[in-house]
Amino acid sequence: MKIAIADISMPKAGVLVVGVLAEKGLTPSARAADKACGGLVRRALRSGRFTGEKGQWLEILAPGKLRVARLVLAGLGKLEKLEPASFEAVGGDAVRRYATSGETDLFLAADAIPKSPVDAGEAAARLAYGARLGSYRFDKYRTKQKPDEKPSLSSVTVLAEDSVNAKKLYKPLAAIADGVFLTRDLVSEPANILYPATLADECRKLTKLGVQVEVLGVAEMTKLGMGALLGVGQGSARESKLVVMRWNGGKAGIAPVAFVGKGVCFDTGGISIKPAGGMEEMKWDMAGAGAVIGAMAALAGRKAAANVIGVVGLVENMPSGTAQRPGDVVKSMSGQTIEVLNTDAEGRLVLADAMWYTQQRFRPQFMVDLATLTGAIIISLGHEHAGLFSNNDELSERLTAAGKGEGEPLWRMPMGDAYDRSLKSPIADMQNIAGPGAGAGSITAAQFLQRFVNNVPWAHLDIAGTAWSKADKPTVPKGATAFGVRLLDRLVRDHYEGA
Ligand code: BES
Ligand code: MN
Ligand code: ZN
Repeated sequence: MKIAIADISMPKAGVLVVGVLAEKGLTPSARAADKACGGLVRRALRSGRFTGEKGQWLEILAPGKLRVARLVLAGLGKLEKLEPASFEAVGGDAVRRYATSGETDLFLAADAIPKSPVDAGEAAARLAYGARLGSYRFDKYRTKQKPDEKPSLSSVTVLAEDSVNAKKLYKPLAAIADGVFLTRDLVSEPANILYPATLADECRKLTKLGVQVEVLGVAEMTKLGMGALLGVGQGSARESKLVVMRWNGGKAGIAPVAFVGKGVCFDTGGISIKPAGGMEEMKWDMAGAGAVIGAMAALAGRKAAANVIGVVGLVENMPSGTAQRPGDVVKSMSGQTIEVLNTDAEGRLVLADAMWYTQQRFRPQFMVDLATLTGAIIISLGHEHAGLFSNNDELSERLTAAGKGEGEPLWRMPMGDAYDRSLKSPIADMQNIAGPGAGAGSITAAQFLQRFVNNVPWAHLDIAGTAWSKADKPTVPKGATAFGVRLLDRLVRDHYEGA
């Protein structure tokens, strides 16, 4: 989909979307369109229930003297409640409404709305951003599509009062959208195509954005003593990998911030095998790694003035003659030993070594890990919030604010010694699942991770409920959401750039 920003003018074909505020408040472009078609907008507003509420749409086909095929009114809601996200939603919804409509060109009018809290340039950039995000499709494996299911829309043009300014504001957003798309592509990809080695190859492609990429294989990880991560991968025919990505956009000598991702390319559960129903979903058990990779792409793509490390632990959790068994004891890079009572609690084993390595090597200011870690977080929070677990209030507040601002909300969960005690093992330093009756599966998983955190501000985001969506949202079509990419980018932008 081509997304462009141009100076405002009346389009001569295609679909033109103009905004209407609550209580039928015409924006300047709606008024101009009304005038050009001899009052059809006002007439249309007299019949039907469209009032300009947020999320309402009204389509006028063949609008009289106007040469466009369809004139569309988009409800913007109350003037005083306008925010950047309002325009993203209109852009995203518009693209999805017309994607397979038979129309090829979509025009979104972004004029200066008097007294709007969002200035015209920002509104235009956000319309473009929303359109781009909402246009995402994963169609690469469709070889046959019925004509009426085929996407027809090929170009979106945002019509701005000052296109030069709007383009300038859109540029960094386009880089973030590229990161989001990369993550959605990686998370959507099936596990016969995307496995540790091929996912590492995808990471290597970030070098063209200026990211330094290193890939460690089993030999290097064995030398480092990563018995926890390697134990998870040992049942797979695919070699485990650990990828280190570095973006040095900040001043030399400033400690980096670090993001660590769970990259289980497929999680069968291992010998503690999962039931067949729904197991295919476990291709997206690498969504934490996917988000870290996309965030690195976004940050490098917009040349963020910060030093950022991204580390992803890539494995496939398979049952086989070489697989780890329930009861096996492994030694992690930290030196701590772990009794693996359930091979399906594998993400924490991967993160234990990936996080330890990250801290030891890079001494980051803080570390955030992202992981589709527990089914239990879906019980707690459903699909609306990701779980946030942290040893640091400031980092938690910053993450929560970043998530709120980007439509990727977090909810902080408690931690504490009483939960930690449930990980006591009779024969090793800890076991990888809590003892019977402990409950709180997401919290005990976070407690496990915290045992591998070494005096550094740390937060864990359990994204098992938010990485994949079964319903379309304006800027997040169903499927892989790329949850975390916008949030991490925003965290860096708001607190760790330029200083
Ligand atoms: N990848 C799963 C968690 C998951 C479940 C993600 C559903 C997305 C949707 C994780 O590796 C896992 O299997 N966790 C177990 C832990 C249990 C064995 C303590 C779980 O949540 O059941
Ligand atoms: Mn598992
Ligand atoms: Zn898993």
